[in-house]
Amino acid sequence: MRETVAPAKAVQGIVSLPGDKSISHRYAMLASIAEGQSVIANYSTGADCQSTLGCMAALGAQVERDQQGRVVIQGGTLREPASQLDAGNSGSTIRMLSGILAAQPFTSLIAGDESLARRPMARIIKPLEQMGASIEARDGTYPPLTIHGRTLHGIDYPLPVPSAQVKSCVLLAGLFAQGDTIVREPVRTRDHTEIALREFGADCSAEKRVITLRAGARLKGRELFVPGDLSSACFFLVAALLMKESDLVVHGVGVNPTRSALLDYLAGIGASIKVLDVRQIGGELIGDLRVRASRLHRGSVDGPLTAALIDEIPALAVLGAATGGITVRDASELRIKETDRIATLESNFRRMGVEMETTADGFHIAGGQKFHGAELDSCGDHRIAMAFSVAALAADGPCEIEGADSAGVSFPGFFDKLREIAH
Ligand code: S3P
Repeated sequence: MRETVAPAKAVQGIVSLPGDKSISHRYAMLASIAEGQSVIANYSTGADCQSTLGCMAALGAQVERDQQGRVVIQGGTLREPASQLDAGNSGSTIRMLSGILAAQPFTSLIAGDESLARRPMARIIKPLEQMGASIEARDGTYPPLTIHGRTLHGIDYPLPVPSAQVKSCVLLAGLFAQGDTIVREPVRTRDHTEIALREFGADCSAEKRVITLRAGARLKGRELFVPGDLSSACFFLVAALLMKESDLVVHGVGVNPTRSALLDYLAGIGASIKVLDVRQIGGELIGDLRVRASRLHRGSVDGPLTAALIDEIPALAVLGAATGGITVRDASELRIKETDRIATLESNFRRMGVEMETTADGFHIAGGQKFHGAELDSCGDHRIAMAFSVAALAADGPCEIEGADSAGVSFPGFFDKLREIAH
């Protein structure tokens, strides 16, 4: 599907967003293995999180919607799925769910779309095998995965790559393992799994970058609320910062400190963003963000900050190109996301007449560049579709975005919201 995005002068108004994608996946998985009923409000409407619900239903969890649109899950013991599990486009689904599947008394097959078939799974297969799992993958790393459930034992695992998905996979496997499970992180990554585990009744502690899950947890179903997704909010924040007359409030956004490096980064380059009315629900922090157009200077993203901003880099690249410039390093992970995001950023910027120098693990974009109206292509990547529709608002003519529907992976209705607030 193609979308046309016309230039705008400002984004204004109040928006709320779909529930956080990362948190939604975790709540759905934990609710499905917990005893009794969980009710999840503001569950992400994105296709990725529907893939997780589909997998959990295929594994025997009862998944329904109540009249308020909340997701109601009756959890318990999982059963062997009748057919192959479909993770769609979702790396989080396949990587995290594999931890649960590795410990079940049956064999499961899990796969996804073409993009997912190119994403490496050795990073989860290795620790799960250390725990006693038996997993087959194409070329030892790519989906489909055949996971033969086994009795697992806890491990003490130093993560070789900073990845919340891998950390979560090991912790979810640890829920079923004999003995405690310890994960050591090289840098701190999003801690939604640790928080959710505690909410469901597990004994999971974190000290510095060492996470310990005590064996023998009995999870209990509960009521949950998913905060708005800060990674989705990022596209609107960038739009507001780019356009001079903007004044926007993004309501009810998750501002968990392991995600909110985005706000610190933006403040650090001169952005005016106020976090208002911070409250806590289910261990997660939520706030309202008020953002106004600002004069920005050059940004630099490297080391631990790269891991903390990994999903926001496409939008920040757009912001940097139009304002003070941006340099990104230590970001080889960008090459193995839904697309090679360094390549898909470069090809779309080139179409808009924007220059970008790339390296194996990053890029440099000079600031103050003009965006020209052009034909753009999401290449099937939701964050590329949304980043370039924001770039299109700041262009000198209309842009056509091919594959715009991929935005629905995390944010169905994104283009309607964008039109609502763009003037
Ligand atoms: C996620 C972790 C990150 C992120 C992804 C969601 C999660 O991936 O890019 O969008 O929910 O744990 P990695 O674990 O591969 O860094």
